[in-house]
Amino acid sequence: MNRAIYLAILLITLLFLSFHRLDHTYSEYQSIEDLRRDYQRPSALWPAPTLDSTAVFTELGAILSPPVLTEKEQPIAALGKMLFYDPRLSSSNQISCSTCHIDTAHWADKQTLAVGHQGLVGTRNTPSIENAWIQRELFWDGRANSLQEQQMMSIENHVEMFQDIDELPAKIAAIKGYKKHFKKAYGNSTVTKDRILDAIALFQKTIVSNPTPFDAFMKGDYTQLTDQQVHGLHLFRTKARCINCHSGPYFTDLQYHNEGFTFYKRKREDLGRYNITHKAADVGKMKTPGLRNVLHTGPWFHQGIFPNIESVIGMYNAGMNTPFRREEYKHDTLFPITSPLIKRLGLTKEEQRAIIAFLESLSSEPMLIEKPKLPK
Ligand code: HEC
Ligand code: HEC
Repeated sequence: MNRAIYLAILLITLLFLSFHRLDHTYSEYQSIEDLRRDYQRPSALWPAPTLDSTAVFTELGAILSPPVLTEKEQPIAALGKMLFYDPRLSSSNQISCSTCHIDTAHWADKQTLAVGHQGLVGTRNTPSIENAWIQRELFWDGRANSLQEQQMMSIENHVEMFQDIDELPAKIAAIKGYKKHFKKAYGNSTVTKDRILDAIALFQKTIVSNPTPFDAFMKGDYTQLTDQQVHGLHLFRTKARCINCHSGPYFTDLQYHNEGFTFYKRKREDLGRYNITHKAADVGKMKTPGLRNVLHTGPWFHQGIFPNIESVIGMYNAGMNTPFRREEYKHDTLFPITSPLIKRLGLTKEEQRAIIAFLESLSSEPMLIEKPKLPK
């Protein structure tokens, strides 16, 4: 009899524990307290991340201090700010860098695809330029090796500013009001292509994202992440595999990966990195975007195909996209191949919500700036 009661109690306890476990799917953890204990310490002591051998990995971390401008550089950046906001850098005098990189929109534009010269729609989504100083190569396909090169391409692009860069110095020099600003920046008022590009590049280096609750957590204020967000952080580093590409203090490995949206041989085809390297292995690869403030820079992906974040996470859960290889492409060496780092994840709805909650902890107020008065 006693034995029967004992067994019944044991059974009830076990049932309770298993339900409790189902209730909180912290994978290998019994409770959120256990999980918090593992994360409320320096990141070197965190649970090991789930990484494939090909992943280029640095641990997640607090935001880095941005470059500090020297006293000499400050007037150059101030000039760069005017040029960034000046539509006279475009052939139509209508489009400036700030048409598409808008401070209140976290320095992106909230459009699916960028709209530029004479209302022409481009082929790619405008990325945020917050923290552009960390990038080694610019654009989704990394075709520019410096901010100067990137700017030159943006200025000349026929669906962006469509301005001949070699004609630009004379055009700017003809605006009398700029003279004193070039003099202040460079010692004399000569306008050259390099001076224009260096000034805008220096200004771009000052556009950064603000510290987030995640950064405060990393510095030891553990109250800054909710239980759900700590759960999301753990999933991000383990079961959900995000860390294989979104790593380091800016949540990017700065590498290129194919997520399955090349639209091969279709109207929207974008061969991505392949257009630059001409290596078959690079077909459809795009640069991993950083994830700071990512919840505020939708629609997402290089063609803005995801209108909400739930669909992004849902697609990752499903293993993204593997294009069907028709018979005619069987021997085609350029047929796009989805990254082997992308796998089906088997995340529950609760786990998907936890990841989104974690992404919210990477949000901060955008850096708003006072618009410069443009020289006449
Ligand atoms: C018509 C909209 C538009 C205008 C105008 C524009 N951009 Fe962009 N910008 C984009 C788009 C779209 C991309 C991505 C293009 C690509 O990857 O092919 C981009 C990419 C960038 C990047 C690369 C970011 C990264 O992480 O790789 C930087 C930096 C940038 N733009 C700065 C500028 C500056 C500076 C100007 C002015 C000289 C400018 N843009 C003008 C839409 C625009
Ligand atoms: C194989 C590397 C890889 C893995 C793993 C990965 N990502 Fe990405 N992520 C990328 C690349 C590359 C892009 C851009 C793809 C494109 O535009 O075609 C991207 C885009 C995104 C975007 C949209 C960013 C923007 O500005 O448009 C979000 C959000 C995102 N990833 C979150 C995640 C999350 C959350 C996980 C884990 C569930 C994850 N990623 C796993 C490489 C990866």
